[in-house]
This record gives sequence, structure tokens and C-alpha cells, in this order.
Amino acid sequence: MRPIVAIDGPVGAGKSTVARALARALGFAYLNTGAMYRAVAIAAREAGIDAGALVSAGDATALEARLRPLLEAISIELAGDRVLLGGRDITAATREPAIGDLASRLSALAPVRARLQELQRAAGAAGGVVMEGRDIGTVIFPDAEIKFFLVADVAERARRRWAELTAKGVAIALDEVRAELEERDRRDAGRALDPLRAAPDAIEIDSTARGVEQVVNAMCTRVNTVSHVLKGLKRA
Ligand code: DC
Repeated sequence: MRPIVAIDGPVGAGKSTVARALARALGFAYLNTGAMYRAVAIAAREAGIDAGALVSAGDATALEARLRPLLEAISIELAGDRVLLGGRDITAATREPAIGDLASRLSALAPVRARLQELQRAAGAAGGVVMEGRDIGTVIFPDAEIKFFLVADVAERARRRWAELTAKGVAIALDEVRAELEERDRRDAGRALDPLRAAPDAIEIDSTARGVEQVVNAMCTRVNTVSHVLKGLKRA
């Protein structure tokens, strides 16, 4: 079986760009698990569930009761960079900052995590996959052959995110982007369930001063070394 490559890390560290490029270089599938949480946020919004208000009111029980049937019936497909919800392309909406924020809030809820983790394990089980998220190396595939934890300085992550939003025509101040990013870091790393953490056996890579190509090359070298060792072990 071809290996599973797990890439975890905070928002804005460059996970998606790097994971996509690494998957292409290796000829592996690419799975963005954050997009699945975003798809749930969109499904909740479309179902008229005021998740933001219920979360803010601390009424997780009411929210979970409303989300349960939606989660049971949900169909999310990841096709490269496209995200399909019930067969419908929702890629553009998944990139809305408000959806990222709602996804982060909903990702703290047990039924949401349980359902998506089940789907994610099924999607990656065959191997030959680069999977990115917050809990891939710690919870989804703790036995993944290769794990990376991608980090970058908060100022650099904010600058990158701001440049991305500005290029899309979103008018937003750099300070505001940084504050939102820090809030999301706090929430993702501070939640009780599967908080953002580096697995003990993950290789940490700091992308602050490194370009995409440099990071991907370092990762590729590591994957090829591990694959080589695994092949050797199989033969022995
Ligand atoms: O990677 P992203 O920003 O698209 O993810 C959106 C949110 O989903 C993130 O703030 C936390 C949650 N998430 C998670 O809890 N576990 C994952 N494996 C991926 C994302």
C-alpha cells in the first residue's frame, strides 16, 4: 500500500498550497479536510440553522440536535480542488471568511467531528494520499507513515492571508486579518476535542522564510526516503 502523508498546522501556514503541490509531485490524491468542515458550515447555513447564534449562546445541545439529521444525510465529495455538497459545486462559498469562521466553531462539536472523521478515514484508507487538516496525524491516521506539522510566524501568516483576500477584491485591514487569525488559532488549539497539536512523531517545518517549492522539496525527499525504507522492509 502507498503511504498516507499527514499535514497539520494552523490557519495560514500554507498547508493547502503545499499539500496540493506535494500530491501532484508524488502522483497522490489530495484531501483537504478543512473543506469538509466548511461544507458542513454551508449545509447548516442553507438549512437555516443559525449556528453562529446558538454557539455564541452556548447552546450546544440545541445546535447538535438540529445538526444531527443534516450530518446523517450529508454527502460531501472532494474532487481535487472542487468541493461538492450533495453533488452541487460549492467551492466558491467554502472560501468565504465567514464560512471559515463558522467551520471552526462547528468543528468543536462532537457529532460534527465524529461524522467527518468517519468520512475522512474512509477517503484516505487506501493510502497514496496527502491529507491536510488539524488532527490528521494525531486522530484520523495516528499510524500515518509520514507526518508534517507546518508552521509560520503569525505576522507572516496574516500577511499572506491579507494578500490573498486583497487579490480577491476583499477590502480588509491587515490588523483585522491578524486578529481573526489569532482568534482562530486560539479556538482550534484550545478546544476540548482533538485540538490542533503536532503529533509526537511529526516533522515540524517552518514556512516563514521558505518558498512553496523549498517546503515541497523537503517534504518530497522525506516521503521518498520513507517509501524506500518501507519497500525494503517488505522485501526483507
Ligand atoms: O483548514 P481550514 O481553515 O479550511 O479549516 C476550517 C476549520 O475546520 C478550522 O478552523 C478547524 C476545522 N478543522 C478541524 O477541526 N479539523 C480538521 N482536520 C480540519 C479543519
